[in-house]
Amino acid sequence: MDNRPIGVFDSGLGGLTTVRRLHEAMPAESIIYFGDTGRVPYGTRSPETIIRYARQDVAFLRSFDIKAIVIACGTVSTVALDTLAAECDIPVIGVVWPACAQALRVTRSGRVGVIGTSGSIRSGVYERMLLTARPELRVFTRACPLFVPLVENGRVQRGDVVIETIVREYLSALKGEGVDTLILGCTHYPLLRSVIASYMGPDVTLVDAGAAAADAARGMLVPAGRGRGRTRYFVSDDPASFRQLAALFLDEEITEPVEQVEIASL
Ligand code: DGL
Repeated sequence: MDNRPIGVFDSGLGGLTTVRRLHEAMPAESIIYFGDTGRVPYGTRSPETIIRYARQDVAFLRSFDIKAIVIACGTVSTVALDTLAAECDIPVIGVVWPACAQALRVTRSGRVGVIGTSGSIRSGVYERMLLTARPELRVFTRACPLFVPLVENGRVQRGDVVIETIVREYLSALKGEGVDTLILGCTHYPLLRSVIASYMGPDVTLVDAGAAAADAARGMLVPAGRGRGRTRYFVSDDPASFRQLAALFLDEEITEPVEQVEIASL
């Protein structure tokens, strides 16, 4: 039994979709969440900047006695996981391998699509990992940079002409390639699950990378004891706006205090 909290971080709010899954799958675990709301987005930045920010995020989480780190951010997972894992003496779990492992389990046709931020797709990490595991796969990728701001503006419902138009614009080529599995490689995309599923059709299985990482953490870590864990939230910008939008990602209100921290000085 290990009652130390799990540290979870993201460039902002989106990582709360992974916290939600951790709460469901491992209710006894305590969590320290850090959202870098003052510097979001990461997905448009250079690898050097993403690594620098991610190191500072990890340093903040490590100011607590945590047992592991879950990188909820798709962009950090693709660009900085190896660097962060090499620098840490506790497990560091990113979203890429858990998502790829799930995609490998579910694909029947061997045609797999991956969507994410520009930074994630530019990294080429998903193709490399999938093709190393199974060279005969066909992997099709697409950056979807407008999804994050649209989700944060609440444009997530089926029937919303704006999101449906952008979904069609981004996903028509992947649909045309006949993928049967689509990795949602960004924190925000699970909120678009129903719009994406309806566009891609019933034969396409959607893989939520953040949820896959939460499930992987469950399989890897020494669990906490019984009872309900406590989650503490920290952000680098206004806590009130984080709290306001958080319910969209967490599917419940945050009742705990949200504290603002000065991240860049760490
Ligand atoms: N959290 C980021 C990701 O999953 C999306 C938002 C951003 O670009 O920072 O890649």
